Amino acid sequence: MTEHVVPLGTSGKQSPLRTLLWRRRSTRSFSARSLSLDALASILWAAQGHTADGHRVCPSAHARYPLALSIVAGDVDGLAAGVYTYDAESGHLRLTALGDHRDAVAQTALVDHEWLKQSAALLVLTGDIDSANRHFADQPPAGRRGQRYVWLEAGHASQNIYLQATETGLGATLVAGFHDDRLQDLDPTVVPAEHEPLAILAVGLPSEDSAWSPRKRSGQ
Ligand SMILES: Cc1cc2nc3c(=O)[nH]c(=O)nc-3n(C[C@H](O)[C@H](O)[C@H](O)COP(=O)(O)O)c2cc1C
Repeated sequence: MTEHVVPLGTSGKQSPLRTLLWRRRSTRSFSARSLSLDALASILWAAQGHTADGHRVCPSAHARYPLALSIVAGDVDGLAAGVYTYDAESGHLRLTALGDHRDAVAQTALVDHEWLKQSAALLVLTGDIDSANRHFADQPPAGRRGQRYVWLEAGHASQNIYLQATETGLGATLVAGFHDDRLQDLDPTVVPAEHEPLAILAVGLPSEDSAWSPRKRSGQ
């Protein structure tokens, strides 16, 4: 059979989404400037926000929404340094512990990520994997299908965080290389009971010399 090649071109139709996708990059160099509470709210909404029809911004297997977000805030304008949980339904933050705990979270990384604690806030994304495995136990591979769904959903939420950060001129990086047990055992708690840690997302204003810097990545 002769090879049939269909050239798709590289330019495509310009759109705001395409530009965002083009500009999105991981940022590991943050400015000392504070993150605004509004900017943090936009990021959290992009990750897990409710929509008017009772769904959320991310697709979710059986619309079960097994994810949760803890916010380890260090330098957010109008928000005391502390650990908060995000109530996706009300769009509220609930304080669980005061104090700057970014360093403790950064130290759970598998490799030295000194830059993690320079970000304004660290978002700890967690999921109820056991419950998902039980719920989807009738789907093969028995007892393990649910966890795939949770991980996939974490990917959706993470990409939404990246894209919202890019649109707002913020930097973000997903870190999935960490010691689960250390993050799970952290005091104050950043991983709710029954949940497993899935990702840490560092967010903040990028430093001027960051690869992301808006001047360096001003679109296509
Ligand atoms: C599943 C996953 C795990 C990652 N874990 C880490 C990590 O532990 N530390 C880190 O610095 N970056 C991590 N990253 C970010 C990647 O290094 C980054 O996306 C990659 O270098 C491509 O660069 P870009 O995001 O700027 O396009 C992770 C990304 C993904 C998707």
